[in-house]
Amino acid sequence: MEKKEQLYEGKAKKVFATDDPALVIVSYKDDATAFNGLKKGTIAGKGVINNRMSNLLMRRLEEAGVPTHFVQELSDRDTLVKKVSIVPLEVIVRNVAAGSFSKRYGVEEGVVFDAPTVEFSYKNDDLGDPLLNTSHALALKLATAEELEQIKAMALRVDELLKAAFHRMGIELVDFKLEFGRTPDGTLVLADEISPDTCRLWDEKTHEKLDKDRFRRDLGGVEDAYQEVMRRLTEDLA
Ligand code: TMP
Ligand code: ASP
Repeated sequence: MEKKEQLYEGKAKKVFATDDPALVIVSYKDDATAFNGLKKGTIAGKGVINNRMSNLLMRRLEEAGVPTHFVQELSDRDTLVKKVSIVPLEVIVRNVAAGSFSKRYGVEEGVVFDAPTVEFSYKNDDLGDPLLNTSHALALKLATAEELEQIKAMALRVDELLKAAFHRMGIELVDFKLEFGRTPDGTLVLADEISPDTCRLWDEKTHEKLDKDRFRRDLGGVEDAYQEVMRRLTEDLA
């Protein structure tokens, strides 16, 4: 399958058309941004790792019954996926307080929740992806009530599966962001990516951060952290 015209360029990926109108190719870049594009940089080799990792995890989710956009890895950085229309919501699942949750509610990072939380942000860069509740999402017609229920259930199922997978790698899944898409027949599938860009991953023993917070917070060792997660995932599969 060959890349045709570029349809879209995002902060971390490009999307290309193919000969098949139902399929597109996503191409992962090394570019990294944070704080809605205010902070810009490069994480060498990130695109290769995120492509590989996201595909491995999505394949596992598929095997466990979660529908995803994944079709086939084409190369180091390129993957064939189903063309979907993205539901303009960032779906965030949290197992441990961190990041914006800690800041907003004044809770120390690292406090473990009794049960996971699910929250939605309106995926809109101009507005800075504001937090919203389900009635807001309905008012804005971002999704139907049925879709919101389905998205929440799928997000919690993904949390269970990913938590277990990362635990086998000695990694605590603190929180993560998902995006969902609709196929032409209206089926909801998991889309976008699952990677250290979109998850908070802490070493279970040392609590060392193994994710994009190293870039966001200028902690150093960004490339090494991404490579370490990839190493453990590869080992887990062996
Ligand atoms: P937050 O604590 O900043 O709200 O982030 C929650 C999770 O979502 C964290 O794992 C990082 C991820 N995330 C993204 O993938 N993209 C984003 O634009 C933001 C703000 C967070
Ligand atoms: N990707 C996001 C941005 O640049 C932010 C983040 O992941 O922190 O806006």
